[in-house]
Amino acid sequence: VRKGWAGVAALALGVALAGCGASSSAPSGASSTGGGTNSNSQVYVVGTDAAYAPFESVNPQTNQIEGFDIDLLNAVAKAAGFQVKFENTPWKGIFQALSIGQRDILISAITITDERKQSMDFSNPYFQAQQMIVVPPGSPIRTLQDLKGKKVGVQIGTTGDEIVTDFLGKTDQNIKRYDTTPLALEDLRNKAVDAVVADNGVVLDYIRQNSSKGFEHYTDPKFPKEYYGIAVKKGNTALLEKINEGLAKVKSDGTYDTIYKKYFGSAPPAE
Ligand code: ARG
Repeated sequence: VRKGWAGVAALALGVALAGCGASSSAPSGASSTGGGTNSNSQVYVVGTDAAYAPFESVNPQTNQIEGFDIDLLNAVAKAAGFQVKFENTPWKGIFQALSIGQRDILISAITITDERKQSMDFSNPYFQAQQMIVVPPGSPIRTLQDLKGKKVGVQIGTTGDEIVTDFLGKTDQNIKRYDTTPLALEDLRNKAVDAVVADNGVVLDYIRQNSSKGFEHYTDPKFPKEYYGIAVKKGNTALLEKINEGLAKVKSDGTYDTIYKKYFGSAPPAE
């Protein structure tokens, strides 16, 4: 079931309905993290903050985690010959869960940044993104500059948080930081904040879901291009190589494009 929608430039976001064999139960105990030879029966535990449609979200009917990232990593694992199991993991602790070995892999629309590269290793980029400002109809806000003196909602610790904080300053009391992006967007709907800054794919999905409300979206030329990567524990080269190998395969055999179309309604932009 897919509905494109008009008026939004490049991305037509689709409704995600594929069950993906994901589970949101607690991790089933320790899993070895890279290093040495893993038997084929090893199941890598994947952390994802599943409150980020259309990349990862929990289907309320089935309780399964689903989305673009889920389909992609399942395809990557299949192509490279390894197994994965998804665990819903709050964004706040997600990087730590990787570093202490509770998760072997993270896929969560994670932007590759120099700072994050210090503490984890990233696959080759798999998705290009950018921050977007979302505002209610009639709002005068268009740019980063316009956010001065306004209440701005962001998900804590995201690149959206970083950009807004860098621009408005660490001491700005008007920045409201939420545990999830949907919570920030809910406060926008309730008029508790004047704008939300978040990744374009998620903002466009939200606007589509709330099409009757007339929300508007803007990008600022100051927003840099961002690239999502799949993360592994720093130094887990063996696993990273498998992931990159799988990624290359799904990109060259058309699987990536099929998954992209399923969620965004069109072919991916040329690289
Ligand atoms: N791309 C942004 C970042 O890496 C936001 C990612 C948030 N992902 C999520 N599943 N909540 O900071």
